[in-house]
Amino acid sequence: MKIIVTGGAGFIGSHLSRKLIEEKHELLIIDSLHPYYSPERKKRQLSFVQETGPVTFVKKDLLADEDELKSLFHSFKADCVVHLAAIPGVSHSLSVPNEYVDYDIKATINTLRMAGESGTKKFIFASSSSVYGNTKQAPSMEEDAKGEVVSPYAAAKFSAESFCKAYASIYDLDLTILRFFTVYGPWGRPDMAIYSFISKLMADEEIPIFGMENKRDYTYIDDIVDGTYKAIVKDVTGTFNLGNGKPVSMERLVEELKSHFPSLRLQVTDRRLGDVTSTWADIGEAKKLLGYNPSITFAEGIRRTVQWMKEHEQNSF
Ligand SMILES: NC(=O)c1ccc[n+]([C@@H]2O[C@H](COP(=O)([O-])OP(=O)(O)OC[C@H]3O[C@@H](n4cnc5c(N)ncnc54)[C@H](O)[C@@H]3O)[C@@H](O)[C@H]2O)c1
Repeated sequence: MKIIVTGGAGFIGSHLSRKLIEEKHELLIIDSLHPYYSPERKKRQLSFVQETGPVTFVKKDLLADEDELKSLFHSFKADCVVHLAAIPGVSHSLSVPNEYVDYDIKATINTLRMAGESGTKKFIFASSSSVYGNTKQAPSMEEDAKGEVVSPYAAAKFSAESFCKAYASIYDLDLTILRFFTVYGPWGRPDMAIYSFISKLMADEEIPIFGMENKRDYTYIDDIVDGTYKAIVKDVTGTFNLGNGKPVSMERLVEELKSHFPSLRLQVTDRRLGDVTSTWADIGEAKKLLGYNPSITFAEGIRRTVQWMKEHEQNSF
């Protein structure tokens, strides 16, 4: 297949792109190397993709470079567009909410229009578990997202999902929305808890815990790539949770890290504004329709992540 991956220099995008190259798809990555975290790190992630095989990379911004991108979409004629580009991060979204309207909503609209106008059939959108807010339903099923969100990031993702549906109807796109649940693993995003905790532990620093009562359905990157790949190649559309289906308490995360860093020290403070207390994916639909079956246990995922960070991130960004 001919596939465009927006945000392909990012954490999830670089892993997914490697899989697409390995499976011999023709790949075009569009990424602006946005400075939400180090563009140098994103270049390293791109090299990690490029060492797998042939790929075309275009450094363009889906918000600013519309004319050039339009002609690129028309000449490439993708069968499928996987739209991962966004600024992520719940707590950052409280500081600069309007940027989330730009990067997470407007850039999605631009991408949908370019895909639709250039004849793309399939569109995959990266949404987030945050769209469930502090739902009382646990685990969260796809129909439980009602817009009752608690951060600007989640509001932007929920809104972007609606725009996806509108343009799927306008252009007759085969739309799949994937709601990712806290993804971790090698090349993990530096702003996320697991990466930042391990970095601090490697530097023998205390780790800051924002709310000991929090639970997250941490999902290993290989499982996310596997679920996303299945959504690309299978003849199925819809909205699917991609999680591990097993929420992990903060205590359990600390215990797991302690087995790798026995002298671990904590600094516990209050939960941050905008954070939900718990996430837990019902993955029944994804299992049934996509054949998604997450296979990496939390202990194994943490072991692999710690090992990778010790080997690669001594001088972390
Ligand atoms: N990592 C997670 O746990 C998680 C959970 C839920 C949802 N998501 C979603 O999955 C997607 C990928 O997340 P990630 O963790 O890989 O983040 P990431 O920041 O590593 O990757 C996003 C990429 O998009 C690029 N980008 C941003 N705006 C752009 C624009 N206007 N034009 C071109 N490129 C642009 C960035 O440079 C970056 O490389 C995002 O949409 C994110 O909201 C991630």
